Amino acid sequence: MALAKLSDLIHKADDTYAVGAFNVSDMEMAMGAIRAAEEMRAPLILQIAEGRLRYSPLDLLGPVMLAAAKRCRMPTAVHLDHGGTMETIRLALDLGFTSVMFDGSKYPLDENIARTKEVVKLARSYGADVEAEIGRVGGAEGDYKSVDVLVTSVDEAVRFAEETGVDALAVAIGTAHGNYREKPNLRIDRLKEIHAATKTRLVLHGGTGLTEQDFRTCLANGIDKINIATASYDASAAKIKAMHSEKPEANYFDFSNAIVEATYANVKKHMQIFGLNGKA
Ligand code: 13P
Repeated sequence: MALAKLSDLIHKADDTYAVGAFNVSDMEMAMGAIRAAEEMRAPLILQIAEGRLRYSPLDLLGPVMLAAAKRCRMPTAVHLDHGGTMETIRLALDLGFTSVMFDGSKYPLDENIARTKEVVKLARSYGADVEAEIGRVGGAEGDYKSVDVLVTSVDEAVRFAEETGVDALAVAIGTAHGNYREKPNLRIDRLKEIHAATKTRLVLHGGTGLTEQDFRTCLANGIDKINIATASYDASAAKIKAMHSEKPEANYFDFSNAIVEATYANVKKHMQIFGLNGKA
């Protein structure tokens, strides 16, 4: 199966489903994710955040992600999550990623728009798609400093979408990266307003820890892409720890396989919740 473009996958997502974007950090996680997509006959987005590249360098992991996507029998996009520097964005595009996110949420609006436009111009020259962020999702993906939520304003989202021409827009509606310390206050009212005001496809970050009902409400009200990272990392670590105590004879390959199995189970669970069964 050929590599898919982000826009092709999320443009089909109506208010009955959203495409899952699953962060991976090694070959095992990618293998688990593609197995889940094939079993569910679901489209898939494989992604890695710039903040995780310290552990999984992009020039090494990127080709693995692309090979996994080409091996997958379901349409699979390969995406750079939370790109912060032009250097990393350019490397992802050179490697053949089908989309990149530029996260300029820490900049004032005008600067975020100006920098995002540069990324859109560059990505278009590769035929790739762009996701950007407006407002600020809480927490931190990878090693970046944790930040508080800054709920996306409708007017700013409209202006940002029009001026940058991005393919997907990450909106801050109360979610945060990582595990929630307290129940998030989801601003579905704001999501509805943004969805009504702009045609740009909307992305939900900080998926780990939301309830099934939260996911269903978000996708029914305009979210087309949902990011899941921490849940896969935690599931893999938990499976390795359990194996370590329950099976003292476990060797390297048992642990490696535990990552495949844990990621597979987590991705499949989320694909079911996101309504992705048979949507490829
Ligand atoms: P979680 O780690 O909370 O699942 O967030 C994932 C994410 O939004 C990646 O950009």
